Amino acid sequence: MKKVKWGVIGAGGIADRRTIPGMILANNAELVAVMEINMELAEKIRAKYGCKYAYDSYQELIDNPEVEAIYIASPVFAHVEPALAVAKAKKHLLCEKPIAFTVEETKNIIDACKAAGVKYATGYMMRFGAYHMAIKNFIAEGGIGNVVSARAQLSGWFPESAKNWRQEKKLSGGGALVDMAVHCIDIIEYLTGGLTTEVGAFVDTRTFTYNVDDSANVLLKLSNGATGYVDAHFNIPDEAVKNRVEIYGTKGSVICEKTIGQIDEGHVEVYTSEDKEYDAQQNRDDAEAKTLNVEFGNMYTREIESFSDSILNDTPVAIPMEVGLHIQQVTDAAYRSAENKTIEKVLG
Ligand SMILES: NC(=O)c1ccc[n+]([C@@H]2O[C@H](COP(=O)([O-])OP(=O)(O)OC[C@H]3O[C@@H](n4cnc5c(N)ncnc54)[C@H](O)[C@@H]3O)[C@@H](O)[C@H]2O)c1
Repeated sequence: MKKVKWGVIGAGGIADRRTIPGMILANNAELVAVMEINMELAEKIRAKYGCKYAYDSYQELIDNPEVEAIYIASPVFAHVEPALAVAKAKKHLLCEKPIAFTVEETKNIIDACKAAGVKYATGYMMRFGAYHMAIKNFIAEGGIGNVVSARAQLSGWFPESAKNWRQEKKLSGGGALVDMAVHCIDIIEYLTGGLTTEVGAFVDTRTFTYNVDDSANVLLKLSNGATGYVDAHFNIPDEAVKNRVEIYGTKGSVICEKTIGQIDEGHVEVYTSEDKEYDAQQNRDDAEAKTLNVEFGNMYTREIESFSDSILNDTPVAIPMEVGLHIQQVTDAAYRSAENKTIEKVLG
């Protein structure tokens, strides 16, 4: 099978922890080049995966004629410049979330990719979780009737640490909201098929002393009439968090534990009910949980295979950057809502 030749910018973080190992397993992708902030680190990663080229300059990686597609996994402050350079070089681009600090910057990247005629996508890889793909189909086929409300949670313990870009607003653009809640907003929209139109939010720094939010609680109004609730925290111990996703509809619910995260795993219970008369007893004891049959794999492998497939067959990408742009518009509205104590419309 023909393989897309990949280069990775910012190869030492999530790329090394998850995405490159996923890429190595992909049947239509080949890692050929990595870039890091210094040659020692770049060379270490090159040697670890046995790929051909290591760089400490993103431009040199982009200019390598063997490199066809580029994955940007550097911190948020280092996304825009290389992304525009990738488009200028007419190479395909997969850029991690959040794509940029501002909606305008993301629009510029999208425009540049469109003008170059390349494929462009963003890294909401949780859509490729086995349960999430199965739940999406189940709900789309009417498995729980009309969706009424949804909740998604992604939290953990992230105390102050020296020199961490995530804890410095001018390097990250924000905290729990743009780092973690974004996945939850995306997964609610993906599973329910609705887009967020209005937002009410509390976004605070309650526990730690850094200048980004450690707490984000966001209420969403969706275009399909349903509501969503997202809670993302940097200040709850990892062991205490179940990373739940719950979707409720007029004919049932889907309750997930630990399907949100970086590993394709979790536990899902499905409750359904035929049309019934009103039950004054409010009896809930006889509810029997079912589940959905899935085969776990690697969501990063699926992410890379999907994007590579779009390149090889010139088909639309699964998660275009417009998805990331929309999520940025939602988080902008959430910050406005938290600041102004208002319900804010998502500006298109
Ligand atoms: N989709 C996911 O599963 C997922 C998970 C974690 C992080 N992310 C996203 O990936 C991006 C990186 O996050 P992370 O957790 O890997 O951060 P990290 O700090 O762990 O790793 C970032 C890497 O980029 C390198 N780097 C720093 N400055 C750079 C520059 N100017 N140019 C190129 N490389 C540079 C660092 O040396 C480091 O190896 C962020 O956008 C983050 O939101 C996505």
